[in-house]
Amino acid sequence: MKILLVGSGGREHALAWRLSRSPSCTHLYCAPGNPGIEACAELVGLAVNDIDGIVAFAKERALDLVVVGPEAPLVAGLADALREEGIPVFGPSAKAAQLEGSKGFMKDLCARNNIPTARYGRFKDFETAEHFIRETGAPIVVKADGLAAGKGVVICQRVEEALDAARDMLSGEAFGDAGLEIVVEEFLEGEEVSYFALSDGKTILPLTSAQDHKRVGDGDTGLNTGGMGAYSPAHFMTEALEQQIIDDIIRPTIDGMAAIGCPFTGVLFAGLMVKDGKATLLEHNVRFGDPECQTLMMRFEGDLAHVLMAAAQGELDSVEEHVSWHEAPALCVVMAAEGYPGTYRKNTPIRGLEAADALDGACVFHAGTARGADGGIVSVGGRVLGVTALGASIAEAQAKAYEAVDLIDWPEGFCRRDIGWRAILAQDKAA
Ligand code: AMP
Ligand code: GLY
Repeated sequence: MKILLVGSGGREHALAWRLSRSPSCTHLYCAPGNPGIEACAELVGLAVNDIDGIVAFAKERALDLVVVGPEAPLVAGLADALREEGIPVFGPSAKAAQLEGSKGFMKDLCARNNIPTARYGRFKDFETAEHFIRETGAPIVVKADGLAAGKGVVICQRVEEALDAARDMLSGEAFGDAGLEIVVEEFLEGEEVSYFALSDGKTILPLTSAQDHKRVGDGDTGLNTGGMGAYSPAHFMTEALEQQIIDDIIRPTIDGMAAIGCPFTGVLFAGLMVKDGKATLLEHNVRFGDPECQTLMMRFEGDLAHVLMAAAQGELDSVEEHVSWHEAPALCVVMAAEGYPGTYRKNTPIRGLEAADALDGACVFHAGTARGADGGIVSVGGRVLGVTALGASIAEAQAKAYEAVDLIDWPEGFCRRDIGWRAILAQDKAA
């Protein structure tokens, strides 16, 4: 199969790395990709939002499959445009991508299908939002309905804070059009986990779990980020919890989408809160998580290209023998540019990448990198590298990942030194 992967982040480097090792993938393109992806795919100079360009390229090269990494082109209709031309695509239609593109849409789907989620209200005007906020009380969570680059959620400890957040969003000041409608919901306590499942619209193929580290600082302190590290599988995942997630959340979501004429094709990434052994849905995403995907791809051992093609073709019930997972857990440490998630410097040189990548059991996935004038690698983004490793235990995967991190010479970069700490603490206690 000739495959085009759309995207340019660490998630896409991990997908490209695994796809290029799939027996059924004969040629891999990536648009626009990054310098790390160059080693496993032919880069194509098309932006992720260039729907016409991507469709024309797929037709011209007679591609067998397009795999879409990020959510924005899905919400904008890339998968629909490809399907109209008869090109198989791994990723949901614009309507189905509303599961991530509109928090209100997702919450209403939950309400109709009895999917456990926080009690909520949807609002377009401040007065009714204010009434709901005062009635519910703090802590309370205010969310912009639309895509806001992961920043549209405000956890409020006081009612006044929630009223300010609601006012700023509804006026269009905080997040533009994405905030003109809001969801206000009850605050949930517990431990967060990400769960991933593939679907072809009917069949579900459960993948695995991961745990992200959203705060910028050690010990889960400081500002929220897109994710500073992850490991997979989550240390507290059990067969019973996985079954509850599938039965109460994944299955009713896929069936509920089919019932309203929006069958979901692609990967469903459920962000969950777990308390007393039961999961409640915080949010759905319609793509792989970043950096969770880096840990999933290190552990995945089957023919990924074959599996994603089966999902695109509605044949996911035929691929179970193509899916297997490495027993060992994987852990990813994100290296970010000093200053992230605030303003940060760009074009600082990064050395030592080959040595880190050559370490047995480790992989350095590129995210915000580019080639400098001398051909060397420079940083151009906030989250820049995803240093990922397998190990016999989470502690060993962590040690290996930091061994690789320490081979990287990038004075203007930083990382958390404690990725996986909750899991390691829990396993130390159990031992
Ligand atoms: P979301 O984009 O909806 O996942 O929200 C981003 C982050 O906000 C989540 O990963 C949680 O840490 C937090 N969050 C969202 N909704 C809630 C909630 N109802 N209760 C507690 N924390 C929440
Ligand atoms: N790491 C969280 C996300 O990809 O949304």
